[in-house]
Amino acid sequence: MTRDTQGGFEVEAWGIMAKLLAFPMKPFLLLSCAAALASSFTAGCAEIIRPGEIWPDDRGRHIQAHGGGILEVGDVFYWFGEDRSTNNPRGVRCVSCYSSGNLADWTFRNQVLKLADSQETGRILERPKVFHNSKTGKFVMYMHIDGPMPGESGGYKLARVGVATCDTAAGDYKFLTSFRPLGNESRDIGQFIDDDGTAYLISEDRPNGFHIYKLSEDYLSVEKDVCLIREHLEGGAVVHYDGLYYVIGSHLSGWKANPNVYATAKSLAGPWSEFKNIAPPEQNTYGSQSTMLLKITGTKTDSVIFMGDIWKQHTLWDSRYLWMPLEIGGGQLRLPEPHGWAVDVKTGETHLEK
Ligand code: GAL
Repeated sequence: MTRDTQGGFEVEAWGIMAKLLAFPMKPFLLLSCAAALASSFTAGCAEIIRPGEIWPDDRGRHIQAHGGGILEVGDVFYWFGEDRSTNNPRGVRCVSCYSSGNLADWTFRNQVLKLADSQETGRILERPKVFHNSKTGKFVMYMHIDGPMPGESGGYKLARVGVATCDTAAGDYKFLTSFRPLGNESRDIGQFIDDDGTAYLISEDRPNGFHIYKLSEDYLSVEKDVCLIREHLEGGAVVHYDGLYYVIGSHLSGWKANPNVYATAKSLAGPWSEFKNIAPPEQNTYGSQSTMLLKITGTKTDSVIFMGDIWKQHTLWDSRYLWMPLEIGGGQLRLPEPHGWAVDVKTGETHLEK
């Protein structure tokens, strides 16, 4: 057996598995299409997204975009995330990019960033998120950069954000710098783009709480602390839906899942409501941790998709994804029990598998 071509699995085995999976799925897809059409799911037969399962890319390899984020450019969704493949060069942290037109089928584009360990960048690169700046035309990636303080040993001490840029979405990004936003510690980060196009960086600051920062005009630095929520939350994400902002995050339990929570506000600056669980607390967010809330603005409706990671601490490359459409509105947000679902990215409609 040839070991470890991607993420510790064999590509050939993946190919065979993808073929085997394709056969029994066909009758189901037909049924789901019929059901979908019956409920006016008109823009073609959507593919099923299956939370928690292996998610093969166009090459049949499990997608490596952990702790990731989505950037929508025209009709194309780009998914950026941590590439935890075991065959990445030693001492190099990689970010991969995939593209899709339907959020279900993903084409591997490029390992867009390969960052070697150094004093400035440490040895930890997590949760990359990419913004597109329409004024400069640049794609700007933020990421959590961490490692020991210079001359020390240990893990998450630098607590910085890193910034890299590129002229195209899926090209080779150039690492520019790392810093603490407005001098504050920053570990888990998230991204939010408001309906007016303003870009925000979400950041966990251990001594103080949870920041929503506005980026500078060129997106290369952090300009303003729009809100500090005095809660210790990681995997932070924000969405604006039907006149309300919803913020979501996990408690601090490392790779282990915990009950993720949400709060709402009329303005990003707050005041924010009390935090509530997004799912029954004993379910621990169905084993996942939030990374992004993706709003699909469709011709018929808007949907919000919870994007989470099901981390496998000892085999990070095999970590899974839990994406589900949220039940959201009127200040309430609920993550349904995971099962197969489909989205029509044109109309914005989502359908759960029967
Ligand atoms: C989690 C965090 C992950 C990673 C992990 C390391 O809380 O969300 O991105 O940093 O801790 O233990």
